[in-house]
Amino acid sequence: MEITGLPLPATALVTGAATGIGAAIADRLARHGLDLVLVARDAVRLESAARRLRAEHGVEVLVVPLDLALPDAPARLSGALAEAGRTVDVLVNNAGAAAVGAVADADPARTGELIDVNARAVAALTALFLPAMVDRGRGAIVNVASTAAYSPAPYNAAYGASKAFVLSFTQAVWEETRDTGVRVVAVSPGPVRTPMNPRAGRGKRRPEQVADTVLAALRSRRPALVDGRVNTVQAFVFSRLLPVRAATRVAGAFFRKSASRAASAAPGERAGSA
Ligand SMILES: NC(=O)c1ccc[n+]([C@@H]2O[C@H](COP(=O)([O-])OP(=O)(O)OC[C@H]3O[C@@H](n4cnc5c(N)ncnc54)[C@H](OP(=O)(O)O)[C@@H]3O)[C@@H](O)[C@H]2O)c1
Repeated sequence: MEITGLPLPATALVTGAATGIGAAIADRLARHGLDLVLVARDAVRLESAARRLRAEHGVEVLVVPLDLALPDAPARLSGALAEAGRTVDVLVNNAGAAAVGAVADADPARTGELIDVNARAVAALTALFLPAMVDRGRGAIVNVASTAAYSPAPYNAAYGASKAFVLSFTQAVWEETRDTGVRVVAVSPGPVRTPMNPRAGRGKRRPEQVADTVLAALRSRRPALVDGRVNTVQAFVFSRLLPVRAATRVAGAFFRKSASRAASAAPGERAGSA
């Protein structure tokens, strides 16, 4: 396969694969002939995505309904893959949760679950699949972060911090694996119109554009890519040019608006802002 240099047949595991960015990534990988393992909580949505991918691309698709916030999720996933006799060549840690608002108003349990799925599961799945990839001398891991990773994110604090973890963790593993033949990269989208961010306005990026950036990231040698030119400049300004206090204040003004829009939105549109 030209996108990662992997010979076919090869299998990609995509988390959060039935909706939004994950569905677009799964579609792109299937188009390149990769078999898929789709992971998310909603089994019905996963099955319907799997049926479409099999029909449109003729690839094999295994569905593993799983809550990645559970501490034993990696063990359950490992068991399901062993039972199906599947090896993972490409891991895309895309599943994530969002919750805007002040930390003082947040539900502590929900904050913990957000960190579990956005950060802990990403590290645990990377640690689960990386050793076999290193042994084989090939493979790829893409961890989906966010432009919110590039400065503190008041009114989106746990989300921003969880994505900063993903970015830092991935850059570190990139360095550790540089000479192993395994490609490790973080991809950071800005606002994208998806179920997580239904109010991302017109002109925002589409999931398919992020999926193209993921493919570009797999072909590149860089440890981290931001999706889209405007987002790339913004991430550079926030992380490298502005003093932290100024960046934090500007980001806070942005997420405070998102939080009040989300609070006044119809219940179906209240997912948050990534
Ligand atoms: N949309 C944006 O503006 C934006 C911007 C920057 C970064 N991102 C990142 O992009 C990634 C994809 O988000 P999206 O925008 O495409 O939103 P989305 O459509 O809501 O996708 C999130 C996916 O994660 C899955 N998921 C959530 N919690 C899970 C859990 N506990 N266990 C397993 N799966 C879980 C969901 O499926 P189930 O509900 O079926 O579990 C869903 O398929 C996320 O990491 C997000 O942080 C998004």
